[in-house]
Amino acid sequence: MAIEITARSGKKLARALARNEENANLILTIFSGEGLTGYAAEADELTGGLISRRIKNDGFEPKIKKFQVIDTNLDIPGLDKIILVGLGARSKLTLSGLRRALCAGFEAARDTARSEHVVFPLADVDLSGLSVQEFAEVVAQYATLIDYEINHKKTREEDDAPTRLESLTVITSEWSLTAVKKGIRMGQLVGEATNRARDMVNEESDVMTPKKLGAIARGIAKDSGGLITCKILGKDEITKLGMEGVLAVNAGSINPPVFIDLTYTPASGATTEVIGLVGKGITFDAGGLGIKDGESMKDMKNDMGGAAAVLCTMSVLATLKPKISVRAVVAATDNLVDAKSFRPGKVLKMMSGLTVEIDHTDAEGRLTLGDAIHYIQEHGEATYIVDLATLTGAVEDALGTLVTGVMGNNDKFTREVLRCAQRAGELMHELPLPEEYRDLNKGRRADLTNDGSGPGAIAAGWFLREFVKDGTPWVHMDIAGTSFRNDAEGVDPEGATGVGVRTLVELISQYC
Ligand code: BES
Ligand code: MN
Ligand code: ZN
Repeated sequence: MAIEITARSGKKLARALARNEENANLILTIFSGEGLTGYAAEADELTGGLISRRIKNDGFEPKIKKFQVIDTNLDIPGLDKIILVGLGARSKLTLSGLRRALCAGFEAARDTARSEHVVFPLADVDLSGLSVQEFAEVVAQYATLIDYEINHKKTREEDDAPTRLESLTVITSEWSLTAVKKGIRMGQLVGEATNRARDMVNEESDVMTPKKLGAIARGIAKDSGGLITCKILGKDEITKLGMEGVLAVNAGSINPPVFIDLTYTPASGATTEVIGLVGKGITFDAGGLGIKDGESMKDMKNDMGGAAAVLCTMSVLATLKPKISVRAVVAATDNLVDAKSFRPGKVLKMMSGLTVEIDHTDAEGRLTLGDAIHYIQEHGEATYIVDLATLTGAVEDALGTLVTGVMGNNDKFTREVLRCAQRAGELMHELPLPEEYRDLNKGRRADLTNDGSGPGAIAAGWFLREFVKDGTPWVHMDIAGTSFRNDAEGVDPEGATGVGVRTLVELISQYC
């Protein structure tokens, strides 16, 4: 069950608390250097000065990421524990600081206070450039993301199972209630879409097949109230279109390839500008004949993380209703080992007409993506393209597991996407695609080779760029390091992170 989030206007905290059916933990955000104000001051009064006493006695410093759980043991209707969350100095609070503070706060609520019900009064003050709506949005989004429970198949209860948040009640002033409700809806929408992407990636690869991805895409269209249409191309159509990149990777599989093509059209009609989203949809990457070792293959069900992000982004558009056409495509297949598998030395003719000499069957993503990127321009009229792909191990060497590598062919568009990532709270950094590196992919017997030599993330980026028409702004996100993790970090749980959804929604929201 997903967490239930509601907003309530409350002048008096005591009265707002007493309306809870079950006792809740109260999260209070505290600025440093100014004593208790607003709701925190009220809570202090309500508890007979308990909060200020504890702050003084325990030396709690309200810096960002600091928190303190206080057992009240008082008979106050609706109130169980109090969780103090530091926000640092009021004048220095940024959106990213607020995110880190909320992350610590909700983690404390879940793990230390073991809260099922949480009450969160919004600091009803001027937040240096942050609107109260944005504040509410981040609160709702982070609560939703922190509350993610992996889609496991455990049959036995575990003592150390994390507590699930059941309800979050945001309390705010009367005048801001409408804005706060709007913020909550948006935060929850994007948080849940991210959690869905996580579920898709965490699912086993023999369940999350190309066919299953196609069925999910169809479901998204079906639930869109007619705003999204879905075309699914099977192997015959893929062959007819000449997508030899997709066919080569699929050659060793018992599952046929599936090409997904979703179109969102605003109710007011199609626009000439079209945002094209392309997701890498390798449902399992064994490496092909150039097989991976066991350790590198272990998590390769996550090789459709780009596809999951793109599809889950599409799933919010019917609610978001942007005024721009959005197209999304995924070439879905696995990359397996079989007598029929494609082999090194093979030369393919991609849909665009460019030829590629196969050097390594494990550099398969750029082959399927090359065809998908060509298709979304030829058949999808995309005027802007963003692709998301778990493309190279090299990007993780460069940027680690917290920062996504971004490349592009148009400075203005790349800046815009990076700004959206920052606003959305996803860490991303640009890697260059200098002209001087273009020849990294120059083939001997074909236009291109997929050997990915030299700086691997950049070579792969340049390879994709060969399929983008001159003049079409394009951004590539290499999410190989950020889409799946072995240890929880911030709002990212262990396993799939759902990276990309938040940034893509932010990008598309600009057209709302
Ligand atoms: N799917 C992998 C990249 C990957 C690595 C994703 C780690 C997630 C975590 C991709 O298909 C791949 O195998 N890339 C090769 C390319 C090389 C053979 C040129 C790589 O990075 O080693
Ligand atoms: Mn591979
Ligand atoms: Zn791959």
